[in-house]
Formats: sequence, structure tokens, C-alpha cells
Amino acid sequence: MAVEQTEVQALVDSAERVAAFTGAGISAESGIPTYRGDDGVWNKYDPAKYAEIGNFLADPAYYWSFFREVRYPVLRNARPNPAHLALARLEQQGKLSAVITQNIDGLHQEAGSEKVLELHGNTRRISCLGCGMGYSLDQVHHRLEEKFPPDCPACGGVLKPEVVFFGESLPMEVLDDAVEETRSCDLFLVVGSSLVVQPAASLPPLAVESGARLVIINRDPTPLDRLAHLVLHEKASDVLGPLIGLPD
Ligand code: OAD
Repeated sequence: MAVEQTEVQALVDSAERVAAFTGAGISAESGIPTYRGDDGVWNKYDPAKYAEIGNFLADPAYYWSFFREVRYPVLRNARPNPAHLALARLEQQGKLSAVITQNIDGLHQEAGSEKVLELHGNTRRISCLGCGMGYSLDQVHHRLEEKFPPDCPACGGVLKPEVVFFGESLPMEVLDDAVEETRSCDLFLVVGSSLVVQPAASLPPLAVESGARLVIINRDPTPLDRLAHLVLHEKASDVLGPLIGLPD
């Protein structure tokens, strides 16, 4: 680990423009479970039912059970960990130009990152599909205590988190911006993603094609490891924490 750590440090030091690309693994140490794998939430909740737009609209109660039992208790207590903080610090130092994230937990912003491109939306923002009124996590949690599934207190419409569900398109402007950041960086840092979901997973190969070095920091192997200049099968905060002077 010490050798790889030095290598990551050297790659970051020599880079002029770093883009980070993050997934659920970076938030695992903040207590938010990943999707896939033995400890993933999909072992308990079927994503085809709770996160597919047609099924959600047919039965919002399934999603809101997931929200009540899994999402809300974890999100209301989750705080950024050293890996989120390290990326924010790199941006403040003028090294990192953007965090492109598949995460929907808002922890990069809470850590202080300014430019966060949320490819899959943000589950902390909840809005009414009828009147467009926006609500916070706490407001909706309060609502579902009195009415289940929760509806819009203003118009009675269906509430939905502002997350890209299966069957929905990614926000085009965000994706365009992410492609631009990917093309213009000279170091592309993947942190905590299985790299199997498209179109997000097409960004690391695009970075390589555009001449950037690719570093993958992920606990388990990914299908794109063979493209990378450096691969570390480690915990995100163990690698990124020391970059900002936290002991490893
Ligand atoms: P996954 O659950 O697919 O993968 C998380 C990865 O994080 C795994 O490969 C783990 O090895 C790794 N990991 C776990 N703990 C880690 C740690 N402490 N440090 C470093 N790595 C760790 O999550 P994503 O790749 O983010 O989409 O999944 C991509 C998309 O799939 C999600 O954005 C979600 C889902 O469909 C939507 O919600 C639209």
C-alpha cells in the first residue's frame, strides 16, 4: 500500500487538472450501503420495483417503504468521510476541476466540493410530480408518518425523489458537462464504483482516449481495471485521506 500511496500522490502532484469520478463506494465509510455485492441494498430491495419509473408510478408505496426503512435512517446521520474531504481540498487547492458523481447522497457538497456533477440526481431533493413543489427529507419523513405513501401536502400529487430512475434519461446538461471535464483533464480519478452502469461507465475509457491517466481506487476489481495506469483495491479513505495529510 505504501508504494501505491506514493504513486497516487506523485500522479496527483504532477497533474494539472484532475477530474474525480465517484460511486457508492466512496460513501460506504459514511455508513451508506452500496448497491451491489453481499452488503449491497439490492439484496434486500428489488431495484426493478423501487427504482424503475413505471413500477414506481404503479406502486409508490414500495419506494417509500425503502425510503423509510433504508434511506432515511442512514442519510439523516451520514456525514462526509476523509475521502469526500480530500476531493474537496484538492478542488480548493486548484488541482481538481470537478467531481463527477453517480451518488445521490449530497455528501460531496457537504464536504465542501463546489463543482459536483450529479449524473443520477440527488435523493435529498423530493418534488411533487403534480405541482412541482419541493420538499426536504425531513418534511417527507414527517408526512409519511401521518400518511403512507406520502403525498404532496399542497396538491395531493405523487412525491418522487429527484433521482434518475431506471427508464429515465440522465440530465443532458450535466452529462455534457461531465464529458467536457473528462475530455479536458489529465488525471481521471475513479473512486468507489463498480463501473458497470452506462452511460456513466463510458467516462473512464473516454478519459484514457483523450490522453488522461486513469487511476482506479475501488475495494473490488472492476471491468475497467485493465485500462488504468494504477489500480488500488483499497478503501477510499485509506488512499485519499493521506493526500490531505490524514494519517493512513
Ligand atoms: P456499486 O454498488 O455498483 O459499486 C460500489 C463499489 O464500491 C463496489 O465495486 C465496491 O467494491 C466498492 N467499495 C465498497 N466499499 C468501498 C470503500 N470503502 N472504498 C472503496 N471502494 C469501496 O455502486 P456504483 O458503482 O456507484 O444508479 O453504482 C452505479 C449506479 O448503479 C448507481 O449510481 C445507481 C445504481 O444503478 C442510480 O441510482 C441511478
